Amino acid sequence: MITRPYVLLSAAQSLDGYLDDASDERLVLSTEDDFAEVDRLRAEADAILVGAGTVRADNPRLLVRSPELRRARVAEGRPEQPIKVTMTATGDLDPESRFFTTGDTPKLVYARPGAKAEFGAAATMVELAEPGFGAVLDDLATRGVRRLLVEGGGAVHTRFLADGLADELRLAIAPVFVGDPRAPRFVGPGTFPRPMTLTDVRSLDGVAVLRYVAATEPSSMDIQRLREAIALAALCPPRATFRVGAVLTDAEGAVLATGHSGEGDPHNHAEQAALAKLDPRDPRLATATMYSSLEPCSVRSSSPASCTRLILDAGIPRVVFAWREPEIFVVCEGAEQLEAAGRRVVEVSALARDVMRENTHLPGVRA
Ligand SMILES: NC(=O)c1ccc[n+]([C@@H]2O[C@H](COP(=O)([O-])OP(=O)(O)OC[C@H]3O[C@@H](n4cnc5c(N)ncnc54)[C@H](OP(=O)(O)O)[C@@H]3O)[C@@H](O)[C@H]2O)c1
Ligand SMILES: [Zn+2]
Repeated sequence: MITRPYVLLSAAQSLDGYLDDASDERLVLSTEDDFAEVDRLRAEADAILVGAGTVRADNPRLLVRSPELRRARVAEGRPEQPIKVTMTATGDLDPESRFFTTGDTPKLVYARPGAKAEFGAAATMVELAEPGFGAVLDDLATRGVRRLLVEGGGAVHTRFLADGLADELRLAIAPVFVGDPRAPRFVGPGTFPRPMTLTDVRSLDGVAVLRYVAATEPSSMDIQRLREAIALAALCPPRATFRVGAVLTDAEGAVLATGHSGEGDPHNHAEQAALAKLDPRDPRLATATMYSSLEPCSVRSSSPASCTRLILDAGIPRVVFAWREPEIFVVCEGAEQLEAAGRRVVEVSALARDVMRENTHLPGVRA
């Protein structure tokens, strides 16, 4: 498996959370000192990414400005400038914008199929088969990008954070208010599954600079696999007691088996259906992770062995789930029993609502 680049998001916002005002003029929220720091982050990066909205609104150069930093890159055997990256669904990008015309460095445009754009020699177009940014990171990895700096705007930041793909966030907060709901926000609505930990707080000329790192658990791979498990619940019979999906992976996140409630036999549970597809002596089980949209059950009326028991017997050391089982039928103690047996349990409650949406047939469950 290729290793995705480390993703650092950088944004400057007003006190009330805006990236800009609603006028055509760009609102400058950084100071010189702040910008010098961002320049260093650019110099450390292999590639810099902004959304097409930012290319259109700000017409940025996205180059390392400081000659010393550029020389240091060259001395290390790296290209003088990072690769420039943008993404578009429409293809609405002006080939005369500075993104394309400045800097002797490769320019990459990730475009959705059907995007109407033609850049000739100015840029390489890469068609994105899926809208998720994971595919962008996979492709950048194949181009040798190990560190990616994302400089906005709001739509792009929202997507990286909601997809759990941001490893670090640098947020500069300027002491001004915008107060205009038409202005772009740092992040829009979404489900943000990966909590961030504050690691550094500084003042640069009155601008507060905050640094956060994403919690190591859940990882971006955990979120991707858990979302896949949640999506599998759509395959369950409509009246299954709980409509649940499960994905079993090896230590690297490669899928070993999947399952959903009611698969094979109407009484089957998702984790059970996934485990049934593997030889119980499969050595990969000893380092596997079970992703389940619902907490594994600990008491069952329909079968002698609970999913918690099956997971324990299979020797699976780690379980990631989204929705803690509500007390509708029985009191579930799956998470407690797994932890008591020394297994690692990661609950991603930020995604629980997506699981509830598949289970509104149950008493008291609302989407
Ligand atoms: N203060 C700061 O730090 C800072 C930094 C950067 C930007 N800004 C401000 O932010 C504003 C721009 O933000 P924004 O949210 O409008 O734009 P944005 O996030 O820069 O770009 C959004 C665009 O990216 C493309 N895109 C998004 N998801 C995609 C996907 N899955 N596949 C393909 N393309 C995708 C789409 O382009 P198409 O529309 O072409 O399809 C979308 O409209 C500007 O006002 C700018 O000044 C501020
Ligand atoms: Zn079960």
